[in-house]
Amino acid sequence: MTGDKKFKALIVYEDENNFRRAVKKKTIKDLPEGDVLIRVMYSSLNYKDALSASGHKGVTKKYPHTPGIDAGGIVENSSSELFLQGDEVLVTGYDLGMNTSGGFAQYIRVPSAWVVKLPRGLSLKESMILGTAGFTAGLAIYKLINSGIEPVDGEILVTGATGGVGSLSIAMLAKAGYHVTASTGKLQEENYLKSIGASKIIYRDELIDKTGKPLLRGRWSGVIETVGGETLSTVIASAKMGGAVAACGNVSSFELHTTIFPFILRGVALLGINSAETPMDIRVKIWGRIAAEWKPNNLELIYHEHSLEETIELIDVILKGGIKGRALIDVNI
Ligand SMILES: NC(=O)c1ccc[n+]([C@@H]2O[C@H](COP(=O)([O-])OP(=O)(O)OC[C@H]3O[C@@H](n4cnc5c(N)ncnc54)[C@H](OP(=O)(O)O)[C@@H]3O)[C@@H](O)[C@H]2O)c1
Repeated sequence: MTGDKKFKALIVYEDENNFRRAVKKKTIKDLPEGDVLIRVMYSSLNYKDALSASGHKGVTKKYPHTPGIDAGGIVENSSSELFLQGDEVLVTGYDLGMNTSGGFAQYIRVPSAWVVKLPRGLSLKESMILGTAGFTAGLAIYKLINSGIEPVDGEILVTGATGGVGSLSIAMLAKAGYHVTASTGKLQEENYLKSIGASKIIYRDELIDKTGKPLLRGRWSGVIETVGGETLSTVIASAKMGGAVAACGNVSSFELHTTIFPFILRGVALLGINSAETPMDIRVKIWGRIAAEWKPNNLELIYHEHSLEETIELIDVILKGGIKGRALIDVNI
């Protein structure tokens, strides 16, 4: 393939502190260095992509830029012995879509150290319905299990339940045999949340403690927490003896105010989740489980499919917490 070949990409431009998005043509030679060139079939929209696409310099420093922290596709050429032309592969995290041209495009070029062979049991499309959100849910479940949390220990709470990480956490936990309580701001989505595996639904305000007590009634054996701030501090104080809280996100706040008491009186574990930098050996192990024993039975209920052009507006919807489930992006429509 020549470096002059043109392909479609969503590009974010910075014009005097204003950020503008458009779908335009790029050429292969515009892509960064890397030993694997991948023809992208699908990407997906994550909260972090919306930050990159709206000029959040903590995520992306230089524009013009193509976001997309996820990409699933076919190896077009590779100078790494790990991958052959025609291999089906996926990339999530590392620097993809942050300061490296990302998956909202028909091609990416990346280091082979970022590339995962598509695990048996997943199609390329399924791998991107899951994407970073599914991998993050899988990493959180892996860490909860490694902390000794078993289905018999009691309820697992998932916050931000209708979002990408939330929905996939519910579906994967249910598949793994756990009882899941879903916390949401969208009570009208009760049927959706039950259909993907939640056994109980609570309104998100119930998780904001007003008493100021350092310890609350122990309710949760485990938590997958995507909201941050007061929600995170309340769930730490309401974890059961020996419980564990996997902290993934900060859609509400990046601050955390807590006390030592849940940790020293109940042995609660606070588990940090960093999906982007997960080492390759653990990454491959988790994708293997996601493709097998944790693979949701009901992925078709969780996603909606969009073109790159439609993604331009969806970015504003996810920033307002308005997305239900996962936005799959077919970059070739
Ligand atoms: N640590 C990691 O490796 C990692 C990986 C992926 C994502 N994340 C983080 O996890 C979070 C969720 O990501 P996502 O891609 O799942 O986003 P998402 O699809 O937009 O989901 C976020 C959900 O949080 C709830 N929410 C939104 N605004 C809120 C607010 N102000 N207060 C309380 N709840 C609110 C909404 O669900 P309800 O209406 O149902 O409450 C929303 O659907 C983000 O902070 C993201 O950066 C971290």
